[in-house]
Amino acid sequence: MSIYARSAAYYDAIQTARGKDYAHEANVIHELVETRRRSDGHHLLDVGCGTARHIEHLQQWYECEGLDVDRAMLGIAQARVPKAVFHCQDMIGFNLDRRFDAIVSLFGAIGYVPNVRLLEQTIETLYRHLKPGGVAVVEPWLRPGDWKDGLVDARFADEPELKVARMSVSRRDGNASILHYNYMVAARDGVRTFNEPHRLMLFTDEEYRKAFSKARFQVEYDAHGLTGRGLYIGTRMV
Ligand SMILES: C[S@@+](CC[C@H](N)C(=O)[O-])C[C@H]1O[C@@H](n2cnc3c(N)ncnc32)[C@H](O)[C@@H]1O
Repeated sequence: MSIYARSAAYYDAIQTARGKDYAHEANVIHELVETRRRSDGHHLLDVGCGTARHIEHLQQWYECEGLDVDRAMLGIAQARVPKAVFHCQDMIGFNLDRRFDAIVSLFGAIGYVPNVRLLEQTIETLYRHLKPGGVAVVEPWLRPGDWKDGLVDARFADEPELKVARMSVSRRDGNASILHYNYMVAARDGVRTFNEPHRLMLFTDEEYRKAFSKARFQVEYDAHGLTGRGLYIGTRMV
């Protein structure tokens, strides 16, 4: 599966242009994990790691692995952090045959899980991959109350050799949000346009908490989080 097949090459340019501060976010995550972690190692897994921009910074404290379903994103991730191990697997039911001290899933990657039953299965999968005393940090996609239907959005990246415009008008389909991104990209080989639909679930706070509790996590919610979307922090006690 490749959700970002056409846009992966422009993902970093768009996030940099919007001012996303991966170094700062990695610091916050490190602090959250280290004030809770009771396991004895420093092995971290980033689920839905994208282009590995968090791993790039987290690797100063942890031995990092990344997991993503999108080969185009993983190609960029591997080039960015050659020494890290990356897995092309689906977060819903992956099996890496090892357990970690920390697992993170950031910037709403969990929203791509298509329904509540599979959300619960995904959180259970994270639990299975943690050591006792390990910590999971999940940054959710928007909750239903945060969603603004019909929001007109545009991002522009303006680099010397690359110009990207990404525009969308958001709409809602039941409890799913639909982001129909339209891209216009100018590079040395010319200008091209394409579009790429993304469908992310608007899970409720109750659904996230229930998924963590069912998986046997001790769960906390940090409303401030990294980007204003909050953070669910689960500790595996035994
Ligand atoms: C919004 S990006 C976030 C990437 C990265 N965590 C960041 O903060 O820049 C969402 C990522 O989740 C990945 N993803 C979506 N569905 C997935 C799934 N079922 N299993 C694994 N990765 C998935 C996408 O391929 C994409 O790389």
